[in-house]
Amino acid sequence: MKLSKKMLLLASTISAVFSTNSVAATEVKVAFNQSEKHPQYQALQLFGEELSKATDGRYKVTIFPNELLGDQRASLELVQNGAIQMAVVANPLVENYDKTFAVLGIPYVYANTDHQEKVFTSGILDDLFASTKKFGFEVLTAYTAGARSLYTKGAAITDQAGLKGKKIRVLQSDTMIKMLACMGGTGVPMNQGEVYTAIQQGVLDGAENNEITYADLKQYEVAPFFARTQHLRVADLLVVSEFFLSSMSSEDQAVLKKLAKESTKVEFKLWNEKIKSAEAIAKENGATFVEVDTTAYQQSCKPLQDELVQTPEQKVIFEKIVELK
Ligand code: GCU
Repeated sequence: MKLSKKMLLLASTISAVFSTNSVAATEVKVAFNQSEKHPQYQALQLFGEELSKATDGRYKVTIFPNELLGDQRASLELVQNGAIQMAVVANPLVENYDKTFAVLGIPYVYANTDHQEKVFTSGILDDLFASTKKFGFEVLTAYTAGARSLYTKGAAITDQAGLKGKKIRVLQSDTMIKMLACMGGTGVPMNQGEVYTAIQQGVLDGAENNEITYADLKQYEVAPFFARTQHLRVADLLVVSEFFLSSMSSEDQAVLKKLAKESTKVEFKLWNEKIKSAEAIAKENGATFVEVDTTAYQQSCKPLQDELVQTPEQKVIFEKIVELK
């Protein structure tokens, strides 16, 4: 993807800003594709405050929400180039660099939010997260984005037969296209910002996402039937530029890494607090939520699970995830 002039300008190199005690602080720009109301935004804000405190104001985190620095694919490139310092990107985007990450996004691999929290805070992913160094970025930690379900216009779709021939937007990776196929439909990869209009114009029949994004982006206006398939608990990854990391002292790097890890617990808590109200907002605005027996989807997606757990690295991580159930 080409980076537009506007994005590069906004993202321009690390800038020095002045903190209250007049010490030059290094600005840490974080690209974020959701709104300021999102639990991840709030967790990142707290992370920024802690980082500033712990480094005597040497670093100042600025979060750019709402795809201001481009979609997730573009912002990951900005991190790689060192044009910005950090970004939150969904796991499938990183999986495009290393297929081992696909294991984190297998349909139905996490039993529930608690299981996912254990996986993200247990340390079992540390080596994998550090291994992306060779691509110019490291993964600092993972955040929850709840469970993704299918939503459509016209009527709720609760089984594979109903999904036949339906075009559903998915995150941008091959695994996500295969996931939609195993559920019976056709996955159309697209970035988040285009989804509303694509459904409205009939390019898509629907999409799949969590309740918070569904409500925040008002997607209930164009796809009011939300079928609780809960087929995927996508990990959102907080990534940091190697250029930036190597500009820090090893002490500051350690502080940044520790605080980023700690922000995951905060984010899970904020997520759990917000999830119910998001659903209520969607309902107040006309959305219908339909419960789904997920057994058939779990069965039809089993071959995809087998396909994504092939290499020794994938097998080790998969087993560790299952052990934490
Ligand atoms: C979720 C996830 C985001 C992702 C979005 C999407 O909201 O948290 O990281 O970008 O889905 O579907 O694009």
